[in-house]
Amino acid sequence: MADSPRHPFLQGLSKHRGAPPTVVVIFGASGDLTARKLIPAVYNLGYDNLLPADFFLVGFGRKPIPDEEFRTMAADAIKEFSRRELNQDVWSRLAANTSYVAGGYDEKPAFDRLAAHLAAIEKKIGREVQPLFYISTPPSVFDPILRNLGASGLAAKYRGSPHQAKVVIEKPFGRDLDSAHALNTTIRSVLEEPQVYRIDHYLGKETVQDLLVQRFANSIFEPLWNRNFIESVQITVAEEVGVGTRGGYYEQSGCLRDMIQNHTMQLLALTAMEPPVSLDPEAIRDEKVKLLKAIQPLVLGPGGDVARAQYAAGMTGGKAVPGYLQEEGISPQSATETYAALRLSINNWRWQGVPFYLRSGKRLARRVSEIAVNFKRPPGTLFAEEGARFDLASNTLSFQIQPDEGLSLILNTKIPGLETRTQPVKMSFRYATTFGSNTPEAYERLVLDAMIGDGTLFIRGDETEASWKLCTPILQSWAAAGRTGMDTYAAGSWGPLSADALVAKNNHVWRQP
Ligand code: NDP
Ligand code: BG6
Repeated sequence: MADSPRHPFLQGLSKHRGAPPTVVVIFGASGDLTARKLIPAVYNLGYDNLLPADFFLVGFGRKPIPDEEFRTMAADAIKEFSRRELNQDVWSRLAANTSYVAGGYDEKPAFDRLAAHLAAIEKKIGREVQPLFYISTPPSVFDPILRNLGASGLAAKYRGSPHQAKVVIEKPFGRDLDSAHALNTTIRSVLEEPQVYRIDHYLGKETVQDLLVQRFANSIFEPLWNRNFIESVQITVAEEVGVGTRGGYYEQSGCLRDMIQNHTMQLLALTAMEPPVSLDPEAIRDEKVKLLKAIQPLVLGPGGDVARAQYAAGMTGGKAVPGYLQEEGISPQSATETYAALRLSINNWRWQGVPFYLRSGKRLARRVSEIAVNFKRPPGTLFAEEGARFDLASNTLSFQIQPDEGLSLILNTKIPGLETRTQPVKMSFRYATTFGSNTPEAYERLVLDAMIGDGTLFIRGDETEASWKLCTPILQSWAAAGRTGMDTYAAGSWGPLSADALVAKNNHVWRQP
């Protein structure tokens, strides 16, 4: 199977990719994320020979599952969800080192059994094995798992050495500033920060990593990357799907918690941060935190910086679909937003006066995630009829994160002919055309980075809190307002009118990506 070559710049920047002998322990191993993302990610790393020779996978959960049954579940997950078909040679190597430990997340003896299981693996191969704990359970049990990792001694295993125990923590990381702070406090009571990998899978997307390369490896962009040349920035994470079967989770979450606080804020931080002094994880995280802290508190309430809405019935992909309030598991009085848009001002030297617009929603016109940087318009006078006003289109540089990953730039061009008339045209680059389409999934990159101990693409504790500090007052104001002020939009549209009004205040319009 021919794979695409890695981006030459990333190749140049990449660190040594060899992981030490590792056992990945997944808490919540019978769950949806394990099947859809984690097992396929491990399998594809194995396929690409990126796993260490001594690699072990251990599932953990409350339900007793015999080893053989867990291996069958894993093979089925690969068949259904992996980007590659199941290859028997690769799978048999992995299956031979795959096992399951049953126990409660709040039962210390279960963690002692897990510790004994890991010790037995080490004894069998006669060497130390780095433990990588992946917490893939609902957030209600993050806390007991962390505490039992501490109480059983597993969290401290090999601490201080390169193969010290590491813990990956899934989202959502708290529900607000207080709960995120409390979770960070528990984490710090059992782990040191370099052992902690708070995941945001958007950071593992190839195009998101390329954002840093585009910004800092091309001398044409960086000199223009400031308030003197940039008019506004729009970050869109649009989904065509509705809440589907995740109504129970979504009712407790909503778009701000599910997408804006994490994915879009991370995209914003990478787009707007200052150049880091190096590609060292801490240098990049320091810049992201500085940027998040420079965002001005938002104006809340009618006419403020925030819009929220729920999708109403409409058409998606040529099919009629119900509104949010008619979906399974959703209260007909629900005040949970399925769409949110924010207008942000960054109070620093580079960005003073440049609005950053963030929006995300379910059941929008199509699935697309992009960052669009709109440059200031050049004066149109040269090309206007005498005495008339003429506005040239603004140059827009857009990073299409997914699907059809790529980069495009809108330029004004002369329409061929005897008259001098201009038309905006799009200059595009598509990853698939240049590099082939078999790009690794975000979780592959992130699981590998955690095994190697590279935290660049993970979120530090202070980053999560800086982002929650901004989002928590919004959630509080919405909770106080209930359904008052909740807008609607037709499923399959580009969102509510209140979001259009948000950008219209600055004479802007949303792009239709
Ligand atoms: P699941 O609901 O599938 O739960 C995972 C496992 O946790 C279950 O198989 C079950 O295993 C155990 N579990 C379920 N409910 C409880 C409970 N109330 N108390 C204790 N244990 C429970 O979750 P997902 O796999 O969907 O998600 C796991 C984590 O990943 C969550 O934090 C989620 O927010 C996050 N995430 C998930 C995504 C997805 O697409 N699924 C996307 C992004 C993040 P057992 O009964 O064997 O103990
Ligand atoms: C998850 C959200 O974090 O991201 C989901 O919980 C959302 O609601 C998903 O659908 C989107 O991820 P992607 O990679 O498909 O854009």
